[in-house]
Amino acid sequence: MRKPLVAGNWKMHGTRSENASLLTQLLDRLPEAPAADLMVCPPFVYLQEISRLLKDSDVGLGAQSLCAEPVGAFKGEVSGAMLRDVGCNYVLVGHSERRQFYGENDALVARKFVAAQAAGLVPVLCVGETLDEREGGRTTEVVTRQLDAVLGVSGAGALHSAVIAYEPVWAIGTGRTATPEQAQEVHAMIRARVALADARIAGEVRILYGGSVKASNARELFAMPDIDGGLVGGASLKADEFAQICAAAG
Ligand code: PGA
Repeated sequence: MRKPLVAGNWKMHGTRSENASLLTQLLDRLPEAPAADLMVCPPFVYLQEISRLLKDSDVGLGAQSLCAEPVGAFKGEVSGAMLRDVGCNYVLVGHSERRQFYGENDALVARKFVAAQAAGLVPVLCVGETLDEREGGRTTEVVTRQLDAVLGVSGAGALHSAVIAYEPVWAIGTGRTATPEQAQEVHAMIRARVALADARIAGEVRILYGGSVKASNARELFAMPDIDGGLVGGASLKADEFAQICAAAG
């Protein structure tokens, strides 16, 4: 039985006071023992403070990115060990905004995945096709390529302590959600791909859906057999909405 996971991807939003009020409101609205694992991914500069605010809660902490190198002269970068040091358990790798705006390719994403695990973090590997790729019938090809880039370097065994997130790029921040059936089809394909390498790991690995998840569509998405929770952007900035999404995963 896979325990669902709901992750809030705050992206480049928030201030210290907005974060504190968002978290206070969120913690107020969450049940004592949530049926799903929960975590939030604030911007780097707020991680340490949020780690402190979350100390007595069941909500985990993730970073939005990390450096592929462990230490050294890499100006502006943040290492996996630093993220662990300030209290992170998770880190997103391969998010489409990093691929699109910062030139992160499959090879770099695979190195970041390795760096995350080497530092003791659980990487959340994001994969997903653009609208052009979907309309060109290339969804399976693109998602398989992104997945294989990591499997090729790390092996399927590494997914034992990792999470996959399927995020169709055309659904991110657009208000246009994949239908539960569209998402399920890709999730099942991803699981089948992992099963080719390791059937047990394929049965255990959590595959989240991301792309305009809201309180109004979360329940039907999470009801699909291969969708094990969500990676939530915009809606994770609203305490009420995010709490309802978390409840939908239980
Ligand atoms: P969204 O973002 O929920 O705002 O579409 C999802 C994501 O980018 O992780």
